[in-house]
Amino acid sequence: MTKTIGNVISQLQIATNIYSMTIETDIAMSAKPGQFVSMYCHDETKILPRPISICQIDSKAMTIRVVYRIAGKGTEEFATYRDGDKIELMGPLGNGFPIDEIDPLSKVVLMGGGIGIPPMVGCAEALRERGITTSAVMGYRDKETFLQDEFRKVCDLYVATEDGSVGIKGNVIELLNRTEIPCNVIFACGPTPMLSAIKSFAVARGITCYVSMEERMACGIGACLGCVCKTKEVDEHSQVKNKRVCKDGPVFLAGEIDL
Ligand SMILES: Cc1cc2nc3c(=O)[nH]c(=O)nc-3n(C[C@H](O)[C@H](O)[C@H](O)COP(=O)(O)OP(=O)(O)OC[C@H]3O[C@@H](n4cnc5c(N)ncnc54)[C@H](O)[C@@H]3O)c2cc1C
Ligand code: FES
Repeated sequence: MTKTIGNVISQLQIATNIYSMTIETDIAMSAKPGQFVSMYCHDETKILPRPISICQIDSKAMTIRVVYRIAGKGTEEFATYRDGDKIELMGPLGNGFPIDEIDPLSKVVLMGGGIGIPPMVGCAEALRERGITTSAVMGYRDKETFLQDEFRKVCDLYVATEDGSVGIKGNVIELLNRTEIPCNVIFACGPTPMLSAIKSFAVARGITCYVSMEERMACGIGACLGCVCKTKEVDEHSQVKNKRVCKDGPVFLAGEIDL
């Protein structure tokens, strides 16, 4: 995997501390929903790249969109980039959601929380292309929601907010419990407690559930073992009960991993 230089096509602030960047890059030719890119800072004192999920892919225009929250120095720098700036990238990385393996008669529910929401947009678009019945259940903190229009274009959208300012008051599991949404497959991305609750919900109902995990990363390509998560079975590669989130994931069948 080699680095590539992308061109920033646009950068917009879409909520407090949340930015949307569209990048022209050949990564768009092979990217799949649920994969991520390693984004390098211009400031070389920040050596490690920052892993950010691919939100939308336009292979014709050769662009990807990423949506990120300012969390520290790296993302703070990305937010200063403007049209015409260059950015060094590596990707597409990770496995992505298994869109092509889903039975066309499935009823898929996409569940996202906070900054786990962006990769679910690409999933919704790809499932729509395959004609698969899809609903999105998204959880935000408050009225500062984002990416709602993108979901509404391609699937049914249900919203929960912690403070009840938009949609139902509560979290995505409460929303799913209170609403009749057809579902036999779940794709989820968000904070670990949310993924853990979704796994329990799915196991109790015999629903096939895939979760996208987040771990701190260094190399991003499977070489340093800096990003392992605990698994139920012994991993072929490491001979211990863990898997590399960057290379074996970030998407796992919920039953495979300890959550
Ligand atoms: C597979 C994957 C996909 C992600 N997708 C998104 C996304 O779409 N949008 C988004 O806003 N965020 C996403 N994140 C989290 C994002 O990587 C961190 O917010 C970002 O790396 C923070 O960098 P920083 O320099 O601003 O923060 P700092 O705290 O200054 O970072 C210091 C170091 O810690 C690492 N780090 C800090 N927080 C995280 C974290 N939560 N996960 C992994 N590494 C971290 C940084 O990469 C950097 O190497 C994703 C993380 C992973 C693992
Ligand atoms: S970050 Fe190096 S193995 Fe995953």
